[in-house]
Amino acid sequence: MSDKTIDESKIKQEYEKLKNQLKLWSRQYYYEDQPSVEDSVYDQNYRSLQDLEYKYPNLITSDSPTQNVGSRTLPGFDKVRHDVPMLSLGDVFSKEELSNFMDNLNNNYPSISEYNCELKIDGLAISLLYKNGNLVQGSTRGNGFMGEDITENLKTIKSIPHKLNRSIDIEVRGECYMPKASFVNLNKRREHDGKSTFANPRNAAAGSLRQLDSSVTASRNLSTFMYNVADYNDLKTNTQSGLLNELNNLGFKINPTYEVVKNMSDVDHYIDKYTDERDELSYGIDGIVIKENNLSLQKDIGNTVKVPKWAIAFKFPPEEVETKLNDIEWTVGRTGVVTPTAIMDTVKLAGTTVSKASLHNPDYLNEKAIRIGDTVKLHKAGDIIPEISEYIASKRPSNSKPYEIPNKCPSCGDKLVHLDDEVALRCINPKCPAQLTEQINHFASRNAMNIDGLGPKIVQQLFDKGLLNDTASLYNLNREELETLDKFGTKSATNLLTAIDNSRTNSMERLLFGLGIRHVGSKAAKLISEHFKNMDSLMSSNIDDISSIDSIGNTIAQSIVTYFNNSEARKLIDEFKSLGINMNYNGNDIEPNVLQNSIFNNKTIVLTGKLSRMSRPKASEWLENHGAKVTGSVSKSTDILIAGADAGSKLSKAEKYDVSIWNEDQFIDEMNNNE
Ligand code: IVH
Repeated sequence: MSDKTIDESKIKQEYEKLKNQLKLWSRQYYYEDQPSVEDSVYDQNYRSLQDLEYKYPNLITSDSPTQNVGSRTLPGFDKVRHDVPMLSLGDVFSKEELSNFMDNLNNNYPSISEYNCELKIDGLAISLLYKNGNLVQGSTRGNGFMGEDITENLKTIKSIPHKLNRSIDIEVRGECYMPKASFVNLNKRREHDGKSTFANPRNAAAGSLRQLDSSVTASRNLSTFMYNVADYNDLKTNTQSGLLNELNNLGFKINPTYEVVKNMSDVDHYIDKYTDERDELSYGIDGIVIKENNLSLQKDIGNTVKVPKWAIAFKFPPEEVETKLNDIEWTVGRTGVVTPTAIMDTVKLAGTTVSKASLHNPDYLNEKAIRIGDTVKLHKAGDIIPEISEYIASKRPSNSKPYEIPNKCPSCGDKLVHLDDEVALRCINPKCPAQLTEQINHFASRNAMNIDGLGPKIVQQLFDKGLLNDTASLYNLNREELETLDKFGTKSATNLLTAIDNSRTNSMERLLFGLGIRHVGSKAAKLISEHFKNMDSLMSSNIDDISSIDSIGNTIAQSIVTYFNNSEARKLIDEFKSLGINMNYNGNDIEPNVLQNSIFNNKTIVLTGKLSRMSRPKASEWLENHGAKVTGSVSKSTDILIAGADAGSKLSKAEKYDVSIWNEDQFIDEMNNNE
């Protein structure tokens, strides 16, 4: 064989390897919603593949990721052809590359005078088809030419109008995303249920949209920002910024942060502004999109098969820090799930101080293959949750050993098991002290029985002294017993006894939630209590009765029936009855999860300017009902200024004091997230 042939076969081998690696990552990302590498690693390798293909174009095969827009269709959904393809975006990773892109475009099209800067929302592209102003079809992008019909799922998303403000035919495109807060809650719930967690909000959104049961999508609190139309002739506008405005007038939610700019220096400012403000946004972004603003010029400039030539995405560099892993702590939750947490040297990361990161479950921990003493790279998954990306092999101490997954419960020492095909390790000892104390903590928590003053430390002490052994035993505590606790005088004992006593009259939903039945959150507990009115009728109901309630699915219904079929559970309810605990629904007096879920709780907020969608008194009332203190003037202790149109001096004062400033859209977004 000649040297040339050897070289060629080596390059071909390298090409195939890279291509297959990218295809695998792409499948994990799009198809399984479980990426195995960071976006930046994918991007780097993708670029290497592009370079190779540029040098050796004869290598290119039609299955190369560079030849497909990305993603693919899934079984279980009807296919939808996109007559106007749904394009992706070309991307750049530095301001220099971006400046070159813009220079090039300006040189080729000297008449360009404006660009529209937008945030690159970290979600997934969707298309909505309206006939006569009515939503008739919603789809995913799929491979850009063919997507999946997910109309029913999209209809459950509050920000998607079923009927437009005008009776027109139009196909609108944009991004569907999961707000950060919903992502955190969803993962918490999944971890607690022993399920695998989503790597970031985008995967969580994708997983939530590709549900065959649209009630699951409905429960995931997704939202949208629309930013494009298949044919702009359907709208009365000639600019991208005007198009956003028109979409808003039609009833779509658009991202309000867009800015029309003139040149690279303006784009530079926009990038810097949102690099700084990124952490404060209620949704994840992974870059900035710069679009030529004139729509007819966009048409002249045209597209490649995959991407528009009139727009580009500037991708944020991943924020990553190094730190040392000192320990792995295992904690037992109230359902017995045993979760590992990495304990690390404290570091600053994307605006917060971090020393812990969840390692989720043994599979995850094994995959990471980290050892105590390793130096690890830490980033924030989906902009929010600290996560270890990998260990640094060159910094591994020579004497470190592989980490062994425990097989005994760190609390009671019982053998740990995997139930069914759960990834989580569980302790199934019903008398496990950690589980019991966690159950009591949950029972006393704010959304449940709301027993003021009964925190985890006190529960632990009471438990260690043998004064508490289950939730019901709380109601048998007496003053003398409480006075034996650390730093507990007569006053604290009286206060705690009063709080425990007061909880007897709580409405039924608090007790139902406090029982800690799998899948039964505070919202579900409220709906169920509202429907059944008392515990006895719930206990004698069947799965069909429970799942007939709007928004309550089979999983919850099944879980409740299984719970009450257990004689221990029935005994516990009898015990509660004999202790005088209220078993009835008291009516609409308390909103169980309002405060705990509210990001406004304990925040000092000032409203200024004109709000277009509600009056200021209404906004104040809503904020106060969600735990905020609404004041009239901005000071150092103000947390947030909500500024409507024509805001005056309060705005400049807020800037001076570095107070977070929100516009009305951000406020409405957060209101929706809180509901
Ligand atoms: S414009 C022809 N604008 O980023 C129009 N895309 O990486 C092409 N994306 O497929 C899309 N925010 O899913 C556009 N403000 C924005 C965007 C945005 C997020 C997504 C979109 C696109 C992907 C490309």
